[in-house]
Amino acid sequence: MSKDYMTGGQAAWITYQNPTPVDAEKKNPWENALGRADQFAPIDDAGGIALFRKQFSVQGLKAARIDATALGVFDIWVNGNRVGRLDDNGNTVYDEMKPGWTDYRERVLYYSYDLLPYLTDGENTVLVAVAPGWYNGRIALNTYGETHIAMLAAIHLVDNAGQTVLYTDDTWQGAWGSAIRASDIWDGELYDANLPTLKGLSKGCNCVAWDKIATESHDIFVTPHIGPTIMVREGLTRKPETIVIYNGTEDNGSDYGKIHVVRESAGEDSFKLAKGESAVIDLGQNMVGWPTFTVKGAKGTTVQIRVGEMLNDSGLESRGNDNPEGSIYTINYRSAKAKAYYILNGNENGESYCPTFTFFGFRYLEITATEDVEFTNVACPVIGSATRETGKMETSHPVVNQLISNIIWGQRGNYLSVPTDCPQRDERLGWTGDTQAFCGTAAYNAMVDGFFHKWLQDARDSQNEQGVYPDVIPTVRVVGFGGAAWSDAGIIVPYTMWKMYGDVTIIREHYASMERYMDWLERSGMNAPNPHYGDWLAYEPTDARLICVAYYALDCLYMETMSRVIGKDDRAEHYRATYAAVRNHFRSLYCNEQGELNPENRTQCGYLLALRIGLLDEDKRPAAVAALKQKIIDNGYKLSTGFVGTCILNEVLAEFGENNLAYSLLLQTENPSWLYSIYQGATTIWERWNSYTKATGFGNVAMNSFNHYAYGAIQEWMYRHIAGIETTEEAPGFAHPILQPKPDTRTPEEIPEGQELIKWAKTSFDSVNGLIVSNWDTTNGFTYECTVPVATTLYLPMLSDAETYTVNGVEKKFSDGKVCYCGKCLEIELEPGSYTFVQK
Ligand code: BGC
Repeated sequence: MSKDYMTGGQAAWITYQNPTPVDAEKKNPWENALGRADQFAPIDDAGGIALFRKQFSVQGLKAARIDATALGVFDIWVNGNRVGRLDDNGNTVYDEMKPGWTDYRERVLYYSYDLLPYLTDGENTVLVAVAPGWYNGRIALNTYGETHIAMLAAIHLVDNAGQTVLYTDDTWQGAWGSAIRASDIWDGELYDANLPTLKGLSKGCNCVAWDKIATESHDIFVTPHIGPTIMVREGLTRKPETIVIYNGTEDNGSDYGKIHVVRESAGEDSFKLAKGESAVIDLGQNMVGWPTFTVKGAKGTTVQIRVGEMLNDSGLESRGNDNPEGSIYTINYRSAKAKAYYILNGNENGESYCPTFTFFGFRYLEITATEDVEFTNVACPVIGSATRETGKMETSHPVVNQLISNIIWGQRGNYLSVPTDCPQRDERLGWTGDTQAFCGTAAYNAMVDGFFHKWLQDARDSQNEQGVYPDVIPTVRVVGFGGAAWSDAGIIVPYTMWKMYGDVTIIREHYASMERYMDWLERSGMNAPNPHYGDWLAYEPTDARLICVAYYALDCLYMETMSRVIGKDDRAEHYRATYAAVRNHFRSLYCNEQGELNPENRTQCGYLLALRIGLLDEDKRPAAVAALKQKIIDNGYKLSTGFVGTCILNEVLAEFGENNLAYSLLLQTENPSWLYSIYQGATTIWERWNSYTKATGFGNVAMNSFNHYAYGAIQEWMYRHIAGIETTEEAPGFAHPILQPKPDTRTPEEIPEGQELIKWAKTSFDSVNGLIVSNWDTTNGFTYECTVPVATTLYLPMLSDAETYTVNGVEKKFSDGKVCYCGKCLEIELEPGSYTFVQK
């Protein structure tokens, strides 16, 4: 049986080699020291990208479809039109950066489009352009081979002559050329508008040297695309907030000086730029997408667009600046060139540009031109995997609201075909630790079930022969396998998706693969997973082996549940027993005879893992919670955790009755804390809390991303505990939701100096079982409003000394209600509907 599920092996892969391959683009920074000089170098002309075409004629066409894919990033044009598809409202929309990133050693995904609207009676041209993309660009780190791109297609036609299928074969033609002279995900694009466009070429013009292609075979799966495609995200396009034009620098006593500003504007999307001037454009938001504009100027003029996440603040190298004050800071992109060049054809009506075979992560644009030019319609569309957004949250605290915005922008930018660590520097990889930390938050913010079905398929494809998941998925040649809290994403992500969406298929599809991973853990004795990264970027180190054992135990817990869900009770028993053995092992290594953590393991992260995963006996937990609490207070109400501890910190506190302390951590403004970065100017979550500080400038440039969502995992706590919108293993997917709102009830003694109470929070979450609303307000007594789509259990906090409260205006006595297990809430069963509870 052919692995090609698109054409059953009927079509041949076709390829066309670059006649003058540019070998500089093959350098990879993980094995060669690449840095500043590489980033600032121009993009070399690669002579174009690969083009393929098929010309054919039809008469009386009744139906037409193309199925296509590529090893590379491809786009299809027919008779002068870009091929898209109709959305639910009948508008034509486009899938970008097809076919996305998969483990191309194993699989590539194909896309299908209705061609009927694009074809005409008589002669037709179908053009497919293929850029290196994730397959063969620098980001591939030479994982899939060095110099190749290829494509595979089938054009299905029904016309007067009957049914025909035109498969890719040696009758297709190939060429290397077009206006897109070079394209790379990390580096950007070089575009010469004097050369044939894809539009023009798809009208059948012979303006490039069409040639014979070569056919070849690839023993990989070709299966339908699953999950959301990458699209321009509607309604999110950013316009310039300010435009600063400068010309040279002036002395400010620093290493680089400062920019010499000649003009400034706010709220405009047009500007003139003279030769020798540069424009710095602030979009007001760190984002992922494309810079676009219309430009007028003389033929042959080159416009250069560079992107940055931050501006140099002083021109001082001692503050990490890489250029004059006021110019864009780019050194943190490392070797990624992240720029675009556009060479004008001189059209007097203006010419528009958008680099669509790459993407950038940025807040600022820097634009220069070799001659005087005029720009209009400057805008930056946001692109990413088109997951429907389902969560909304607002509080009385504006800076917390900014945090919520930063988290969702991080998700928008980093869920692009695969969940990435960051979207800008020479990395943008599917780091699994970041993914597992954030996926719970992500599943509230947006419908990410399909996105993770696709990624877990990638996980299976990349799993090695021993059953180990890699530390980045899809795997790349230079990153390892089996890092604790990283490769465990192969277990944690499906569990989380099942629980959030009630999606049992995700368990079924992935179960055999998970068992292979668990087998590897078992075969390794207690020596796996591996201590690669520890509590990554923590302020207080935790024994990396402790984290390995804890995650092994966590995997067992999740496997026990997932086994039961699909009726594999014997396996569930097995994992239950394994969990017990791993827990004993944990205790033997990390606990004293009384069953308390050994002194050297009493770190915040150590306590958090032990509590979260049930590694301590029940009677030892209250003391552990108290000790953890004291550690946080003694640390000035600050966390000391890295990726591993931080993503569970507030949830563990909430689960063990210390939600008020979680509020104090949320509202902390000193380093390290969530709000700290916001006071330093963050519009997305940063890789480090202090990636930039007003006091000392930029952090260590070796790893300094300003769009790194992992710490955004705190929002899961906000949904589950501030709003209190929770689901259970018994009724996953919010089939019988729990509402457990936990208002900020800190007493004056509990509130750290300088903090205020959060007075209200409004949250809505469009679950797979319907819309859930949870709003509370403590400004005047306590009001709680909720809407539930299905029967729900509410744990209503009792915050009043009065004897009564009201439900939808009807008075009730507290003493008639059922007091819940914690003694501080009424347990109320709600029928579907909307409710308002008032306590005076
Ligand atoms: C990435 C992280 C990742 C880590 C592994 C970094 O370079 O950006 O987010 O998880 O490596 O420790």
